[in-house]
This record gives sequence, C-alpha cells and structure tokens, in this order.
Amino acid sequence: MSEEIVPFYIPSITAEDKKRVVEALVSRWLTGGPKAAEFEESFARYVGVRHAVSVNSCTAALHLVLSALGVGEGDEVIVPTFTFAATANAPLYCGAIPVFADVDESTFNISTGDILKRITKKTKALIIVHYAGQPCNMNEILQIAKDYRLFVIEDCAHSLGATYMDKQTGSIGHAGCFSFYPTKNITTFEGGMVTTNDKDLAHKVSLLKNHGMTSDARTRNELATWYYDVTELGYNYRLNEVQAALGISQLSRIDKLHRQRIGRAHYYTKKLNGVSGIITPFEAKDRTHVFHLYVIRVIEREFGINRDRFFEQLSKRGIGLSVHYTPLHLLSYYKKKLGCRRGDFPVAEQASEEVISLPLFPGLNQSQIDYVLQQIKSIANK
Ligand SMILES: Cc1ncc(COP(=O)(O)O)c(C=O)c1O
Repeated sequence: MSEEIVPFYIPSITAEDKKRVVEALVSRWLTGGPKAAEFEESFARYVGVRHAVSVNSCTAALHLVLSALGVGEGDEVIVPTFTFAATANAPLYCGAIPVFADVDESTFNISTGDILKRITKKTKALIIVHYAGQPCNMNEILQIAKDYRLFVIEDCAHSLGATYMDKQTGSIGHAGCFSFYPTKNITTFEGGMVTTNDKDLAHKVSLLKNHGMTSDARTRNELATWYYDVTELGYNYRLNEVQAALGISQLSRIDKLHRQRIGRAHYYTKKLNGVSGIITPFEAKDRTHVFHLYVIRVIEREFGINRDRFFEQLSKRGIGLSVHYTPLHLLSYYKKKLGCRRGDFPVAEQASEEVISLPLFPGLNQSQIDYVLQQIKSIANK
C-alpha cells in the first residue's frame, strides 16, 4: 500500500484508559485479582446475564464453553462458513467436527434453512456468529435448537451491545463468547468473555480457565491456605488485571463508542446509496447493528471493476481495507481436514468475491470519511 491516509482501524484509547492501566500495573495483583472480578460484574450487568467469566480471548471462550458443555469426540457442531477461523477451531480443539452452513444473502448471518439441512444425529451444538455486529435471527435459531435439543453458542466477537428484540447478544443462547481484540467494539489488547445465565456452566468455565484448580491464588492467599486440588484438565486462559482495568474503562463509555461507530456507518450508507454497483449493509428492522465492521458489496457488472481491482485502487490511494471473509471451507486446512469443496456454499462464495470492509472506528474523522467516499466515487465515475 502507498502512504496511509486513512487507516483501516485505530483503537480508541483515552487518558482515563491510560490512567486505569497504570493503576493496575502498580497494584498488588497483576493477574487473578479484583479488577477481573469487577470487569466481569459490570459486563454481566451490561449484557443482562447472571454470569460473566473473563478469559484471554474469544477463541478461549469458545473452546471452554464447548468443553464445559461436554462437546467432544464424535460430536458435530454447526458453524457458518463465512466467519473467522476461531469459530470452527473451537470444536476441533474438543475433538468434535465443525459442520459448515451457508449464510443469508442479505445479512451474511448463518442461514437457518441451511442449518436444518446439516443437522444429523451427531449434532450437539450450533455456534452462530452475529456477523459484522448485526444479530442473527435468534427466534428461528432457538426454535431449531429446541426441536433438535441443541446448545446455542453465540459468537459475539463482533456484536457487543447489539440487540435482537430488545435482548442483548450474548444473553439469548446458552452462552455468549466475546472478543476484545484491538479492532473490536471495546478492547483489552487481547481478551474475551463468556456470558451465561447457567450457574454450573459459568462455574465449569471458571475452573477450566485456571488449570482445573479448585481455588485460585488470591483465594488461597485470603484463606491463608496452600491447598488446592485439580479436578479437570484445564488451561491457562486468564485475563490479567491490566487487561481487565482497560476493559472496565472502555465498557464505561460503550454507548458513546457505539454512537460514534453507528453514526459514521450511517453516513457512509447515505452517501453510497446512490452509487451504482455498490450495495450498502442491510439492516433488519427488529435488531440493532453495532457496526463492528462496515461491509459493502461491489457488483462488478454495475460498478465496472471487480472487488479485487477496487481493493487495489483504494489501497493505492492510501486507504486501509479488509475482506471479511474468505469462507472457511475454501481455506487449505479445512478443505483437507473436512473434505469440503468450492460449490458447497454458494451464497458465502459469491459474497466473498464481492465484500470489502471500509475503515470504521470511533475516531475516524469527517475529512477521512469524505476522502474515502471521494475516492470511491472517482473510481465509480471512470
Ligand atoms: C467471528 C469471530 N469469532 C472469534 C474470533 C476470535 O477472537 P479472538 O481474537 O479474541 O480470539 C474472531 C476474531 O476476530 C471473530 O471475528
């Protein structure tokens, strides 16, 4: 890329964020301390669930939820193909098979019609992804889960704060898994959270994230005891205190962060709606879209050039871009491991050739947005 004029993403870090991080750095507990507990409490309150368990990534969250639900060898888990690798890797970590499903043409969320075609006697769970920050059709998904006795895990990596019929994502299925990677709607550098109303599930996830140990270091310190047992094969998936302090600070201004993203996204949509060959994001009426990503579609026969040439030309003009996603079933590892082929999921395949994610972040300023729009229009007019 030539000189960067508009980056794809810049995290929003304020003076208050920095102050909180430094306070945590000089605190007694660098990990396993009170900040993680405070972050969990405020996160659970925000999402509207009884329990939130902090972990060090959304990948860890997905892995632990499946393990805690007993998903393992011989089980199948249906996941959308139009997602990030972690969604499908979690079942594989547990020895289960991810079974891909195609997506809906307008939202790029998992297609409920296609889920029904993929269910077998071995299906144990669905991992659904609220793509780009717009919730899936949860009523239909919950109905399928009820009919076939399946667990529903919401991959909320994109969707913190998004609502479906007034319910927050992460509070609708059996569990929600969130990401705080730097591009996400709030960040803790790396980080994640499990949300659930199921007390036993929350307890099991807490155990598994800390080596399967019956007590953590701070509890042993408080009780002046050295004793612990290990009751499960666990992991070290803890979120540290510095990360948690940043998370608390970021979450306290989540409404503002959302307003900034949504306002910019709607401005893009207003200005791009008249451009022939560009399809702006569809927003379903019964949901709020929190625009983790702003994804447009480039239709070659109307726009004049295809998505790859469009990407190249905007990159040359100093604009940071991305593509979400190449469907997983077309990536080498999954093709080989799961035996999938081009042609298996036509909607996702078509979308993957046309989508492009434009720069979108809370601090994106008016002149940067106008620059992106000007460059798109100048390419369109050629
Ligand atoms: C849909 C989806 N699921 C899971 C993840 C994994 O998140 P993390 O990087 O926090 O492990 C991502 C990351 O971008 C994602 O986009």
